[in-house]
Amino acid sequence: MFDPCNAACKPSGRNAPTSCVMVIFGGTGDLSQRKLIPALFHLIREGFLSGELRVLCVGQRPFTVDEYRDMIDKGAKGFIEPSLFDAAAWNAFVARLDYLSGIVADQNTYQRLSDRLEAMRLEEGASADRMFYLSTPPSAAPVIVEGLAAAGLVKEDLGWSRIVVEKPFGQDLDSATKLNAQIAHVCDEHQVYRIDHYLGKETVQNILVFRFGNSLFEPLWNRNHIDFVEITATETLGIGNRGRYYEEAGALRDMVTNHLLQLLSLIAMEPPIAFDADAVRDQKSQLWNSIMPMTPEQIIQRTARGQYGPGFAGGKRVLGYRDEENVAPDSRTETYAAVDFRIDNWRWAGVPFYLRTGKALAAQVTEIAIHFKHPPLALFSHIRSENDLPLHCIEPNVITLRIQPNEGITLSFGAKQPGSEMRTSRVSMDFYYHETFNERLPSAYETLLLDVMRGNATQFLRRDGVEAQWRLITPILETWKALSPPQFPNYSFGSDGPQVADALLARNGHAWTPLVPAQDKSSA
Ligand code: BG6
Repeated sequence: MFDPCNAACKPSGRNAPTSCVMVIFGGTGDLSQRKLIPALFHLIREGFLSGELRVLCVGQRPFTVDEYRDMIDKGAKGFIEPSLFDAAAWNAFVARLDYLSGIVADQNTYQRLSDRLEAMRLEEGASADRMFYLSTPPSAAPVIVEGLAAAGLVKEDLGWSRIVVEKPFGQDLDSATKLNAQIAHVCDEHQVYRIDHYLGKETVQNILVFRFGNSLFEPLWNRNHIDFVEITATETLGIGNRGRYYEEAGALRDMVTNHLLQLLSLIAMEPPIAFDADAVRDQKSQLWNSIMPMTPEQIIQRTARGQYGPGFAGGKRVLGYRDEENVAPDSRTETYAAVDFRIDNWRWAGVPFYLRTGKALAAQVTEIAIHFKHPPLALFSHIRSENDLPLHCIEPNVITLRIQPNEGITLSFGAKQPGSEMRTSRVSMDFYYHETFNERLPSAYETLLLDVMRGNATQFLRRDGVEAQWRLITPILETWKALSPPQFPNYSFGSDGPQVADALLARNGHAWTPLVPAQDKSSA
């Protein structure tokens, strides 16, 4: 007889330590120091990577190998988890890092890279499996991919060759389509890993398990039971020293096009026929494609944007966006974006999916709140709740998936207060990762780098998915650009965001969940 549990739990060789040669373009940058190099070291310390891993950084700076190692030692070391740090292991790891100084626009760089990789393989026994990680500005991606192809480095005759591309994948639908075509011209889609670090987060990966690994929730997961869904990713910091990038990007491109649309797809997609790269990505694309791009009139009704002005943080006066470094004094760039998306399929017709993101807000919160409908009958309407409200005014059930911080899941519901009177109270069932699992949550980059080495593209974007996302976002960007400039700044540093965003939900009789810092929430 078929045993579904046995089928799902078959042991596989996937946990054997793996390795490759990882070439990082832009390997002296911030991402390498803060995320990539620490992730590799953590993976080695946790036993996921064998000691054969080699890392070769390609950068413009005229470093010697020793200077590069010194820079990593001074920079990346500070981002290693203290529980995994070991001085001897760290020194051995750093001593195996390599550096190649070269300009990405120069063809010669790729020939020298190819020679170096061959020498590593033949003389030092390095693997023929290669990962090329593009931690570079978006405009460099096509140049690098073409350079790699011209030097024969995307061929897979001796080992695999995989290219990891960091976001943003273009600036709009046209540029993303062009970039995809340029990449497709020189290598096959199965070699391309478009990374969205949100997909590597434990709590994001848990969304599909929560939905499809349990039979309790899925029957309720539709328009018959769900009133609306809120997807929030807010930050307390301003844009810091990223003014140059942010002026071009803005909140909609920076966070909604990728991270928030990914969360939306995980919450709303149909069950895939298997948990593999094609089946999962087919369902995501189908979900994005079932959202109609909005008309300009709908965009005016169903989107809101904001820009932070000066305010107070930690008792100190802080700058508004327009006063930040490399930001125009009359900048129209949004640092806050909210969108009410509607999914035009049978499961979700009529259910608003409210997405919001912003910088310089009251709390750092990334969470998804599923708001259920009121019970069909106000059976207890003569009874008062703890707030002295008639019971039908009590908030309906909410399932909150907390992505970060305070990772976990909460289900809130009404319960009878003890006593002879019929009074009700809001209570919750809480699951906190830190209480339940006595394990460190791996960083998103650890999970995703390991996936690349294992050839598992499930948590990476496919070409059609990138274009489907931009098909939804580009009309908003164009309409916003065409409209007369908004009254910016329209929210203060440290606040809950602009009033126009509240009006977006109020129109449908809904309201955003207040932004409460994590420590206050857990004690609430
Ligand atoms: C990045 C954005 O992709 O994600 C940043 O460019 C943002 O602006 C960051 O701060 C948020 O990531 P996380 O993992 O801190 O939620």
